[in-house]
Amino acid sequence: MPDALAHLQMAHLEALERRYADAMSALGYDGVLIFSGRPALHFGDDQHANFCSYGHFQHWTGQAGLAHSWLLVQPGQHTTCFVHAPDDFWHLPPSLPDEGWTDYLEVISGRFETPPAVNASRLAVIGDVAEATARALGAECNPPALLTALDEGRVRKSEYEIACLSEANRMALRGHQAARAAFLAGESELDIQLAYLKASRQRESDVPYGNIVGLGAHGAVLHYQHYDSEAPASRHSLLVDAGYRYRGYCADITRSWPGPDADPAFAALVTRMHDIKQQLVAALAPGVDFVALHERMHRLLAALLVESELVAGSAEAAVEGGITRAFCPHGLGHLLGVQVHDVAGRTSREGIPLPPPPEHPALRLTRELEPGMTVTIEPGLYFIPMLLGPLQASPAGSDVNWSLVERLLPHGGIRIEDNVAIATHSVRNLTMEHE
Ligand code: GLY
Ligand code: MN
Ligand code: MN
Repeated sequence: MPDALAHLQMAHLEALERRYADAMSALGYDGVLIFSGRPALHFGDDQHANFCSYGHFQHWTGQAGLAHSWLLVQPGQHTTCFVHAPDDFWHLPPSLPDEGWTDYLEVISGRFETPPAVNASRLAVIGDVAEATARALGAECNPPALLTALDEGRVRKSEYEIACLSEANRMALRGHQAARAAFLAGESELDIQLAYLKASRQRESDVPYGNIVGLGAHGAVLHYQHYDSEAPASRHSLLVDAGYRYRGYCADITRSWPGPDADPAFAALVTRMHDIKQQLVAALAPGVDFVALHERMHRLLAALLVESELVAGSAEAAVEGGITRAFCPHGLGHLLGVQVHDVAGRTSREGIPLPPPPEHPALRLTRELEPGMTVTIEPGLYFIPMLLGPLQASPAGSDVNWSLVERLLPHGGIRIEDNVAIATHSVRNLTMEHE
């Protein structure tokens, strides 16, 4: 794999240098210094929180774990990575991977708790840097116009980035298969999580986001964050939303499974949600408005609610009356890259991102799709008491089959999530190609 990727990574870095040079020349900078970041210390303690480096640092290096390091871009000069690797008998200093970027960039290893000296007439420093540090360098700190331009440069992925995202999907699916097997063997959320980590070869602090492993009603908590160590008495369902980070690039995959104690109506809903996900993936193409596609998800959900007799009346009325929003309060998907929720997903005016439509407040991607974008498609259908209570009390509530809802509540919910790369004349489902 590394050899196959080396030339793609070179092309990625060459394009990145050109993109930085264009943005810097348009905005009048001759130097950009990127800080990878530092792990936070717990207050009053000498222990650190988990660390993940700044996205723009990863865009060049793919190194999510490299703290206190810097990357200097000065068009016309060798791009340089200052890797913080001090001699230390308490910790093992970082060692560099055998990857193309270590040849392409000039790499200087040493101690970099303080930034390297830079000779530039107009320098910007970006990342989690104090204003005082930027002032001491004579630099502007996180100038918004530059950040907007650099964020935009992450939206269309290179061939290298798509290869990394594909590999991240391959590894994450190993975890999902092991999670399902652990569920069918009657294991607890904690044991399912451990099976996922083992099969996907990850320590918990390295996953791109906290794995969501919800048995039964826990599947209705969208970002459920606990792992019960005891298996429940009944096994209605499992929802696993979990990924993998490969060279910085994140997979973000969800699978839902009916269990041995599932209601047949729930198992049928899971099957139909796979179909809905496939229909939405098939609709992806350059020029598609993602807000319109999100609205299409609501129409498909409404049709499913009617077909499965959860809702009486028409599918149109279920959308208009807000019924589908009570069953699925999150967005259809988002951009994906070195951040799970990647930057620049919202349409903007003069560089300022616009809020999503008020009826879809959680939608993170509101742009038209373009070749090179990589997105998640993640339709969901949940039984969330906090949202169903107000629905029941509203006029639209009289259309809902509450006795069937009652039967389905112990199953929590369903989400099916794939990662898809958009090209000019095709789309590539990076998840299904490994399943
Ligand atoms: N894993 C979080 C999400 O699907 O957006
Ligand atoms: Mn997810
Ligand atoms: Mn997602």
